[in-house]
Amino acid sequence: MESRVTMLHGRFGGTSVVLAIDEDVSPRIVYWGPDLGAMTDQLLEALDLTGVEALGGNAPSTPVKLPIILENRTGWNGRQGLVGHRANGTAWSPHLITDRVEINCPHATSLSAQAMETGAGVWRIWTSDAFCAVSVLLELELLSTGLLRVKAHLTNAGDDAYELEELSVALPVPVEATEILDFTGRWGRERVPLRVPFEIGCRLHEQRRGRTGFDAPMMMFVGEAGFRFRSGRVYGVHAAFSGNQRVWAEKCPDGRQVIGGGELLMPGEITLGPGELYSTPWVYFAQADGLDEAASRVHGWLRARQRHPSTNRPVTLNVWEAVYFDHDVEHLLEIAQMAASIGVERFVLDDGWFHGRHDATAGLGDWYPDEDQWPEGLAPLSDRVHGLGMQFGLWFEPEMINPDSELARAHPDWIMAASDEWPVEWRHQQVLNLAIPEAFDHLHRQMSLLIRDYGIEYIKWDHNRDLLAAGDQHKGGRAGIHAQTLSTYRLMDLLCAEFPGLEIESCSSGGARIDLEMAQHTARFWPSDCIDPLERQSIMRWTEQLIPLEMLGSHVASPTSRTTGRSSSLSFRGGTALWGHFGIEWDISKASAQERYELAQWIDFYKENRILLFTGDLVRGDSADESLWVQGVVATDRSEGLFELTTRKRSGVSPRSRFRLPGLDPERVYCVRPVVVGADPGGLIDPPWFGATRDGVEMTGRMLALSGVHTPKLFTDQVLLISVHETRDQQSAEISPHETSTALNAESASTAGKLEERNR
Ligand code: DGJ
Repeated sequence: MESRVTMLHGRFGGTSVVLAIDEDVSPRIVYWGPDLGAMTDQLLEALDLTGVEALGGNAPSTPVKLPIILENRTGWNGRQGLVGHRANGTAWSPHLITDRVEINCPHATSLSAQAMETGAGVWRIWTSDAFCAVSVLLELELLSTGLLRVKAHLTNAGDDAYELEELSVALPVPVEATEILDFTGRWGRERVPLRVPFEIGCRLHEQRRGRTGFDAPMMMFVGEAGFRFRSGRVYGVHAAFSGNQRVWAEKCPDGRQVIGGGELLMPGEITLGPGELYSTPWVYFAQADGLDEAASRVHGWLRARQRHPSTNRPVTLNVWEAVYFDHDVEHLLEIAQMAASIGVERFVLDDGWFHGRHDATAGLGDWYPDEDQWPEGLAPLSDRVHGLGMQFGLWFEPEMINPDSELARAHPDWIMAASDEWPVEWRHQQVLNLAIPEAFDHLHRQMSLLIRDYGIEYIKWDHNRDLLAAGDQHKGGRAGIHAQTLSTYRLMDLLCAEFPGLEIESCSSGGARIDLEMAQHTARFWPSDCIDPLERQSIMRWTEQLIPLEMLGSHVASPTSRTTGRSSSLSFRGGTALWGHFGIEWDISKASAQERYELAQWIDFYKENRILLFTGDLVRGDSADESLWVQGVVATDRSEGLFELTTRKRSGVSPRSRFRLPGLDPERVYCVRPVVVGADPGGLIDPPWFGATRDGVEMTGRMLALSGVHTPKLFTDQVLLISVHETRDQQSAEISPHETSTALNAESASTAGKLEERNR
């Protein structure tokens, strides 16, 4: 529907967005925040009017307007939205004006000739600047969960080249937002939260790694003082791009403040010839009451996608930490056999299977089985895995190349480099330039053959280095990260289209490529190379701020962590791994029979609860005691929940106090009880509310959220699971989603039972 509106009000999922389309400036946000309720055109006008400052003093003589693509000429002195110019230095200060508006929303009501109210859907606004000879199509999409995303497409309408340095989008945030939550991190310790005051100036978080980054901002939030998981107004921004990107929060001395994001282009990376187009990534904006609500806006939207992974996420065993590069076929077959017997559903062969790959120094690029280690190819393993009823997964690092490989020797020009000198090696590897059509086709052919020949159902797609000085040798070394990133998405999509059902996991030295665009091309993320449960608790807590549990690989590793050297109980490892797409990364042939028995119990428990885990709302408790973390999932119908209580350090107080279980229906009565899988968590001494047979107590959701239950005595580094079920449900004939899951899993008798049966 085309329209000549000047104000648009989008309302959905608890979010309102009000957009003004003026004659003298490109579209600007008048309001973005909690739902304003139904509006009239007069009310919308008043909303706009009441945001205009009094003029006077040494200041611009007309009110300063902040379009979504910020322009300096309006009086805004902060970061600019469109930065570019022509070769002679002109056309650097854009003045975009709206030409046309298109509204593509199923529910749209005209409030007057000038104003319109819509539900979820897309607004497309075409703008142009005759002097600079550019046009920009702005797309704003209000998603079903109240998440807003914005994208811009710039076309060079001139006769000569236009050098683009930056095209980004920004939204105003209210002055009540006085704190910033950003993230940092490093290999094996990803997503470390950073709280800083939102002060005058700009907090700019840039990524120049050619991948999303260990220290990616994820969603950068600004919010009112002290915002937490369950409360406090927050405004988040996420630039969904797996190459270079930036987000920022900027506050100017005149009281205006914005958050924004976009791709970070390297010098000369985008030169648009006449008629050529550049599109920004989607930039996502979430406003919410607390971080949990912000997470639910993203999770709910991802989960509503047609191609979202099903809740039946298969229990996965990956052999990386079990064997590393030591590929002994008999040993791998033994692990596969044991895996199947304890209930594993997917077996993944990691790095080390291809030509010349005996350690990390050689082989990347030569994607065919190593003749020494795999003389009969991978079939002996893939056939056995399939024969045992498991899916077969294989590790690749498609965009990488070792200088010591047949491929590098044959095509040194396919390596990304900004000059005739190669960038520094990183893990002994360089980057294969997928923007070169021959390189792309070669890789695609090799991968397709393997997927077909071995019936591969799952690819662990690794990416173990930053892109440094990543140029295209076929273009004189011109920066190529933008093209490389888009080529990667294209290759992933091509393979998934050719092999329906193929699942790709995005791994990048662990968790360095997790973002909402990668989430459109893959089904799973590997959050970190560190599987130590203590570290993982924190990594997962913040990764799930953006990505729902079913898309986050979460494994039980060996008793002593290969990354930290810290040892932990199976109870802690299992209780931590449960909160994600469950798997194992441990040589179970070396585990004791008791350990395998307990592991089988964790697998059973995961299978019984995966529907709840992967459909429920994420709930993280706000605790005054940082040594105690509470997190859970609550079914969307609020009939049940599963929580974990984690002791992460020794507390300054003992016996501690109560902890709260939020997110349930305040009016309903629930049975709350501890759940022990395998052995008791270390040092567990029951508080009275557990009851003599650990059948718990009955309390209302309100009591659980406001008063809570007392902490048991527990050693440090332990997880205690707590289940919550609405009491009336137990008598009801209605089948809840959890009961359905139990019914589905019931046909597979207890895994421990199966184990015994098969071993007989
Ligand atoms: C890094 C990954 O994160 C690990 O899980 C493993 O696949 C190695 N790469 C293999 O080189």
